[in-house]
Amino acid sequence: MQHTLASLTLTFLLILQPAFAITKSPGCGKTLTPGTKTGGTGFSNNLTITSNGLKRSYLLHLPENYAPTRPHGLIFSFHGRGESGEYQEKLSKFSNGNVNPHMLAVYPDGVEKQWQGDPAATTDDVTFTLDMLDQISKQYCMDLEKVYASGKSNGGGFAANILACDPVASAKIAAFAGFAGAYYQNPGGNCDPPTVPIKCNPGRKPVPIFEVHGSADGVIAYNGGSRRNRCLPTLPHFMTEWAKRNGLGSQNSSTVLDSGRVVKYDSTIRPSTADTKTARPSTTSKTASSTQASPICPAANGTTWTTSEKTKFQVLCGYDTTASYYGRPIYDLRSFSKCIAACEDDDDCGHVAYNGVCYLKRGSKGLKKIGSDVNRVAIKLG
Ligand SMILES: *[C@@H]1O[C@H](CO)[C@@H](O)[C@H](O)[C@H]1NC(C)=O
Ligand SMILES: *[C@@H]1O[C@H](CO)[C@@H](O)[C@H](O)[C@H]1NC(C)=O
Ligand SMILES: *[C@@H]1O[C@H](CO)[C@@H](O)[C@H](O)[C@H]1NC(C)=O
Repeated sequence: MQHTLASLTLTFLLILQPAFAITKSPGCGKTLTPGTKTGGTGFSNNLTITSNGLKRSYLLHLPENYAPTRPHGLIFSFHGRGESGEYQEKLSKFSNGNVNPHMLAVYPDGVEKQWQGDPAATTDDVTFTLDMLDQISKQYCMDLEKVYASGKSNGGGFAANILACDPVASAKIAAFAGFAGAYYQNPGGNCDPPTVPIKCNPGRKPVPIFEVHGSADGVIAYNGGSRRNRCLPTLPHFMTEWAKRNGLGSQNSSTVLDSGRVVKYDSTIRPSTADTKTARPSTTSKTASSTQASPICPAANGTTWTTSEKTKFQVLCGYDTTASYYGRPIYDLRSFSKCIAACEDDDDCGHVAYNGVCYLKRGSKGLKKIGSDVNRVAIKLG
């Protein structure tokens, strides 16, 4: 599923790029400086830049076949809140040569692990993104017509809502994708998810947008709602507003995929003579039964784990559908056994959900659907 999502994003992004236009960046012709790495996940270059007076870091992936005279596309991939560029590289798979053989990929680190658009963020990450693009394009050979932005959760909101709605960034970046994106709006007290006004001021039209969202997403709900003193729109409302801004009207066509587990909603217009920037614009969204990453169960399903303090947990593999965890997700516990140990130490914890981030949860219910994508769930016994 993860592999499929990464391929889908790439397919979407590539469909949108006009075959004819190439704008070489100033870095074309410059040889790589000694020490610069090319290769797959884990072989990215950790670079820094000062933006708005802050020292920022980002991982830059150069494909194995990077050639200083060939203009390469570039994908920004923004991590979820509490995560990092390093984690996002693994999650997105954009450094995997089988998925993305030719394009550069950039995995920036958020200040305090979050992005502009989050209720708690105070940084100007639009400027940071444009500064990175400027720095990279001066040093590496890029096609400036093929710059894309994507991200997960808070990072998805930053890509498909903040950058895509920014008058300058939306004109420099060809297409935008959000995964389980958090599209916070601030209507001032009154949150009606299907109608909340969406603040957006893109610098061109149409803006190609792709969104994938799990209908059982327990963090950023598909049907939106009040969250952290902000308002999340329903996904259909968010995407329909994009379709309308793009001049597509409010109709969509739907296609059932993956034996009914996924529905694709698509609004596409025929290219008109006025729209020369993107040859085949579309506004597409998908629902999947889950967008959580975790193909591997930590132990055989149904087996019992006994901790060093003799507490027993039963491992269950499947989607955890309880909507809430208590407290914040614990991002530092990137290990299933540490996550269980934290639950053991906490009297309120009845079970854990784990998908690379540890969630301590009350009660012991919540395992619903089983598939190849699983949250790892363990229930405290007795
Ligand atoms: C990259 O460097 C920054 C500091 O500049 C650090 O916070 C970050 O963890 C580093 N990333 C990796 C993958 O080493
Ligand atoms: C697609 O259109 C149908 C029918 O109007 C609507 O119920 C649904 O919410 C739309 N989906 C999206 C993702 O916009
Ligand atoms: C794990 O066990 C539970 C309970 O027996 C079952 O509902 C579920 O289908 C199993 N999961 C997998 C991945 O087989």
